[in-house]
Amino acid sequence: MIIIMLSRCMNTADQLPKDIRGEQYTGAKTCVKCHQDLSRSYAHSPHGLTSMPVIDQELLKVFAPDSNSFNFGEHEKVVVEKRDSGIYQVAYTDGKEVRAQRFDIAFGSGEKAFTYAYWKGKKLYELPLSYFSAINNWANSPGFPKNTIYYDRGITSRCLECHASYAEKKLTQTSGISLDEEMEKGSLIYGIDCERCHGPGKQHVVFHMENPEEKKSKFITVYKSLTRRQKMDVCGVCHSGNNVLPLKSVFEFQPGDSLGDYYAQEFVGFGGGNPDIHGNQTTMLMSSSCYIKSETMTCQSCHNTHENVKGNLSIYSQRCMSCHKTTNHTKATLAKGMLTSNCIDCHMPKESSKLISFQQAGKEQLSPYMLRSHRIAVYPANSN
Ligand code: HEC
Ligand code: HEC
Ligand code: HEC
Ligand code: HEC
Ligand code: HEC
Ligand code: HEC
Ligand code: HEC
Repeated sequence: MIIIMLSRCMNTADQLPKDIRGEQYTGAKTCVKCHQDLSRSYAHSPHGLTSMPVIDQELLKVFAPDSNSFNFGEHEKVVVEKRDSGIYQVAYTDGKEVRAQRFDIAFGSGEKAFTYAYWKGKKLYELPLSYFSAINNWANSPGFPKNTIYYDRGITSRCLECHASYAEKKLTQTSGISLDEEMEKGSLIYGIDCERCHGPGKQHVVFHMENPEEKKSKFITVYKSLTRRQKMDVCGVCHSGNNVLPLKSVFEFQPGDSLGDYYAQEFVGFGGGNPDIHGNQTTMLMSSSCYIKSETMTCQSCHNTHENVKGNLSIYSQRCMSCHKTTNHTKATLAKGMLTSNCIDCHMPKESSKLISFQQAGKEQLSPYMLRSHRIAVYPANSN
């Protein structure tokens, strides 16, 4: 009897799926077994969907059949075409095909945009066209040259550090001091999964499988026990912008770690003091007097990453009112209305990114990429 018990215990860990990140991990499929409700809502969340391999049928749902071509001037165009081995972005010059690359990976949940990548050997490159939800159409990928079709922008593991859960990479020295990066296709874990935010969970799972009567969690970081700084750092891993200098891969980051061990201080003068709005909610929020003068504000004051309340500005406004029970608005401001249902549009207005804009076909001017400002303040445009 004792022998059987023992072997059952040893087997618990062995029965769990292997995870490429290491012995301590087990993968989101295992978490789902006991945390069904959370997992169900999570499966549709932008974090979970922020990178994925392209499945043709899903891609076809994204774009309208009559919008599958983008002109770069009079002679050149890119056409999105379905072929036997997948869907391709095909470049034509004066009607003659000059290059074709397949959609292999999609970046972005499509809330605002999709950017696509193709594999060439062990490297990823960005496709010339991205899809922008604001216009329901293709546009030249952000930052790409205006009048030529470009297939050669490398996508490094840095993109995946913010948009996926793991990628194995190898650095090799090419000429002189420059380093060349290769990634193992089969090692990619798409989307941001449970263990990306909660840390490795195998020990937690083994414990609760063996002790089903235990209702208090063990061997997993309890968020409520973290300091304010630690809570901010968990989100800051991916939400503190691009003018930080990575010291090591943030795939290793676990809740409770200090972000300072992963990123060097922001470069002064490179957007420092005037951060861009894209991907930089942490810096923006921390410069708000709500953050500075309250002792408790974190991202969780307004966001529960496990539920999607996107677009429901009255729910967000209630979160403002949990601290601001009364407000001093002038008569003129009050006259504009929406005072209890929408604090957001006046105090966290949408602003256009200085780093990202996109070019539509046949248009000279770039179209803006709009994001919510996380610097909560009185904005001149809304004053009287
Ligand atoms: C065998 C069942 C089981 C599995 C599988 C499981 N958990 Fe849990 N988990 C529990 C129980 C029981 C609790 C405590 C009750 C509760 O909070 O739901 C818990 C609580 C938690 C908590 C809350 C911690 C706190 O107190 O704030 C987190 C976070 C968590 N689990 C993450 C995970 C992750 C990540 C995975 C996958 C790696 C996972 N769980 C897999 C049973 C499980
Ligand atoms: C591993 C990187 C990563 C971490 C860690 C992370 N995020 Fe995100 N987050 C992203 C990416 C990438 C997106 C864009 C998703 C998409 O494709 O739409 C995003 C989108 C969001 C959004 C907008 C979409 C939505 O769900 O409404 C919110 C809000 C958000 N994150 C909050 C947080 C908070 C709060 C934390 C900390 C608990 C956090 N994130 C941690 C990478 C991350
Ligand atoms: C983007 C980061 C992120 C991802 C991805 C994520 N979580 Fe969480 N999770 C959090 C944060 C932050 C909290 C704490 C919320 C709080 O205390 O307000 C939390 C809380 C929890 C809790 C405690 C119960 C609760 O609702 O407060 C459980 C259980 C949990 N997560 C399980 C999971 C599982 C299972 C997955 C994968 C399906 C997952 N989480 C994915 C950030 C994340
Ligand atoms: C430092 C983390 C970080 C890096 C690095 C990063 N992103 Fe993002 N990305 C984000 C965050 C956070 C968001 C969502 C919120 C925002 O734009 O502020 C986002 C949004 C996006 C979106 C729009 C998603 C949607 O549907 O709303 C796309 C597409 C995207 N990123 C692609 C890329 C690509 C391709 C790369 C590499 C060239 C990259 N990102 C590098 C953090 C990052
Ligand atoms: C965790 C509590 C908390 C939350 C949540 C919160 N605030 Fe604040 N906010 C504060 C504190 C504290 C101050 C500083 C008050 C003072 O100086 O007397 C402040 C200041 C402000 C100011 C004055 C800014 C300035 O620069 O003078 C505005 C406007 C404001 N908050 C709007 C909002 C809005 C809108 C929301 C929701 C999107 C919100 N706050 C959410 C705590 C909070
Ligand atoms: C005072 C409330 C509040 C706090 C605190 C807050 N956010 Fe937001 N956040 C919002 C609102 C409101 C929106 C807009 C939601 C919508 O349009 O549906 C938003 C949108 C976002 C988006 C989507 C991008 C966009 O511009 O649409 C991301 C990403 C995000 N928040 C991340 C964070 C992160 C990371 C933190 C912590 C550093 C944080 N937020 C703290 C209120 C807040
Ligand atoms: C129509 C735009 C508008 C809306 C809606 C709005 N505000 Fe304001 N708010 C302002 C302006 C403008 C000021 C500066 C004082 C003035 O001119 O009325 C201000 C001032 C403030 C202040 C600083 C003064 C004080 O009371 O200490 C806070 C805090 C504040 N607002 C919070 C909120 C909250 C919370 C909501 C939602 C319940 C909200 N505001 C809705 C425009 C707006």
